[in-house]
Amino acid sequence: MGEPLPICYLNGEYLPLRDARISPLDRGFLYADGCYEVTPVFDGRPFRFQQHHDRLTRSLKEIRMADPLTHDQWRALYRELIARNRSNDGKPADLYIYVQVTRGAEFGRNHAPLPDVPRTVFAFAAPWPDGRQGWRENGLPAVTAQDTRWARCDIKSVSLLANVLLRQLAVDEGASECILLRDGQLTDSSASSVHVVIGGELRTPPYSWKLLPGTTRGVIEEVADKAGVKWRSVPVSEVELRGADEILLGAATREVQAVTSLDGRPVGTGKPGPVWRKLSDAFQAYKQEVAGTPW
Ligand SMILES: Cc1ncc(COP(=O)(O)O)c(C=O)c1O
Repeated sequence: MGEPLPICYLNGEYLPLRDARISPLDRGFLYADGCYEVTPVFDGRPFRFQQHHDRLTRSLKEIRMADPLTHDQWRALYRELIARNRSNDGKPADLYIYVQVTRGAEFGRNHAPLPDVPRTVFAFAAPWPDGRQGWRENGLPAVTAQDTRWARCDIKSVSLLANVLLRQLAVDEGASECILLRDGQLTDSSASSVHVVIGGELRTPPYSWKLLPGTTRGVIEEVADKAGVKWRSVPVSEVELRGADEILLGAATREVQAVTSLDGRPVGTGKPGPVWRKLSDAFQAYKQEVAGTPW
């Protein structure tokens, strides 16, 4: 991922990211007590803003926090961050916006009661990550591991230590992602939703506490309908994962990518498959369709 863009937002102020400071007593730092979102911005327009905003509000509610900003305040924040990080030629670049809300800092360290203190709201922008040369078009390697995350993976919490260590397993093997299994069933991956294709049908594990409800998954399911690809939310066993014709990853900064090897063995033909191609084309067409429309 590239270096972040220079201007960030912290608690009502826009300032150089290098100068941003928070208290060491912030509960985000002490307890990972907070939530986050990563939203792509194409041609200056946030993509699926509403879905990202809804998920942030839901994640916060699940950890007993009200959203500290209104919907309109979030929109203004996104607009301002995009404008202040415009490139020198003034053209809106493709980027992503990271936002994080933590419960804030009280003077001390107490698990509970949950303090009623000002929340910490932080956001920065970064260039669109191109990823490793060739992986987007030619497919990428993935590994599998037992899902060692906590029991509320539906919350987009900043408590990401398990995800970080799982992703490192992929890096150790020269792979791009670590696909997760719990009790013999596919759940998620370290930072993307996982879909399999079996007999031409796209299958994704149902929404539950075991996985993050991906915004990209929503796009993939919508464009699958347009592209005439049948899809279902159904449990996917380890055996089905390993025998799948295609395995796809979906995430805001990946869009839809093909996994062409799993634990060193080829997936299907070992090349990105026809369902990936259809969905990837339909995804790009959808992006074009919404470009420049109100958000
Ligand atoms: C564990 C996990 N699953 C799935 C996703 C995909 O979510 P989205 O499509 O909203 O980026 C992410 C994204 O960060 C993730 O961390």
